[in-house]
Amino acid sequence: MRSALLAILLGVAACAPSNGDAFSSATAQTPTPVQSGEGWGAHGIGDTDFPLDGNGGYDISRYHLKIGYDPATKHLTGLASIEAAATQPLRRFNLDLSGLQVSEVSVAGRPATFARSGDELSVTPAEPLAKGGSFTVTVAYAGTPQPVKDSSNLGTYGFIPTADGAFVTCEPNGAKTWFPANDHPADKARFDFELTVPQGLTALANGELTKKPVTSGGRTTFSWSERHPMVTYLATMTLGKFELREGRTTKGVPNLAAADPKYRATLNGLYTTSGEVTDYWTTVFGPYPFSSTGGVVDDFPAGYALENQTKPMYGGFQPDEAIIAHELAHQWFGNSLSIKRWKDLWLNEGFATYAEWLWSEHKGRASAQTLFDNYYARQPSDAVWAYPPGRAQPRDLFNESVYTRGAMTLHALRKHIGDATFFTLLKTWANDHKYGHVTTPEFIALAEKLSGKELDQFFDAWLFDKGKPAL
Ligand code: ARG
Ligand code: ZN
Repeated sequence: MRSALLAILLGVAACAPSNGDAFSSATAQTPTPVQSGEGWGAHGIGDTDFPLDGNGGYDISRYHLKIGYDPATKHLTGLASIEAAATQPLRRFNLDLSGLQVSEVSVAGRPATFARSGDELSVTPAEPLAKGGSFTVTVAYAGTPQPVKDSSNLGTYGFIPTADGAFVTCEPNGAKTWFPANDHPADKARFDFELTVPQGLTALANGELTKKPVTSGGRTTFSWSERHPMVTYLATMTLGKFELREGRTTKGVPNLAAADPKYRATLNGLYTTSGEVTDYWTTVFGPYPFSSTGGVVDDFPAGYALENQTKPMYGGFQPDEAIIAHELAHQWFGNSLSIKRWKDLWLNEGFATYAEWLWSEHKGRASAQTLFDNYYARQPSDAVWAYPPGRAQPRDLFNESVYTRGAMTLHALRKHIGDATFFTLLKTWANDHKYGHVTTPEFIALAEKLSGKELDQFFDAWLFDKGKPAL
């Protein structure tokens, strides 16, 4: 009973997978004719499902984001310094930026010319960049950030103003609503943040504080650093009034929980459960990949949570154990290991959903087998069978199948290759690709290698073929 209820709640709150019948999306993109030429970096990174997301021709290693925000005026001022390396000779390259006014761009310390078209900011350095050369591009910008609002299958995401600050959750492509970015998970980078907000508010970002917040002239600056590679959609600068609880998990991982005063009652539970879950996952998935853990509950009714690196964000609800287990499992699957293309999203969501089942089993509630059986019994018309999960639908990314049938795939695999091999596979997968990128064929190959079984048919049935797989 309780697990069924959890499952239902999760379907709505945890991940808000859709029911599989969305036909339009704010992010479905038609390639606009952007000129190209010799030495011009592509205006997309090459994900055919999202042709304008990210950019070609360079690889970013670090973002330094110096940002001020005032909730009273909703005005943001930003100075982004971005370190990158050219992967081809570049006379011109693009960044992704949505709205906001750009006042100045420089490359390698020299003023560059720039132009805007849609969400593309194209930059022409004073001197062409040689292939392999590193460079720093700085962008000064300001304005009122506009989140992507009420899209049919993604809700509201990006930089979302709230009554006392902002809730900043950017999956799949909302980073460009608050900083110029190579806004696609295929390009991971380190992040440093210097966030200045009115005194009395807290600005939260990924990683850890590098020094004590500095207050002067009625404004406080918070300096955060995420020292491990991170995709852009996981970056955050959620800010507002927050109550904080700080310490370490039993195993010693620094733990920070934050709750909007409206969710004050959830702070201790969030802190304790996040610590307990983080420690437990280290026994199942291997060492925690980052330098701190925790979670943030804000009062924006997003209806979903996001696994922001080191600080999952819960939008306008009190998170239960299952969703905390889900978001923290993403720290391994989704965050440390990132997808290169959105079509492989089940590698994030199927794994995090299966982690909920493992948590339930660990706690002596419903076993993964029971949960699997309940879903497997669903009618052929149920959303869980609407698509095979192995290729996420660009117009319906977070659909029920990617989550639930993705998790079922892992459970069926566990039954097929046995517990010992299955749990070795999870740890090996997490360890082999730590801080890197993964694809579905790589997962299949590792499962075959460790089990000594030929698994093409198995994965075809679960991930790629329509309809309900036979048991
Ligand atoms: N990755 C998140 C989760 O599974 C879901 C993010 C949904 N994003 C959105 N814009 N609705 O917890
Ligand atoms: Zn998820």
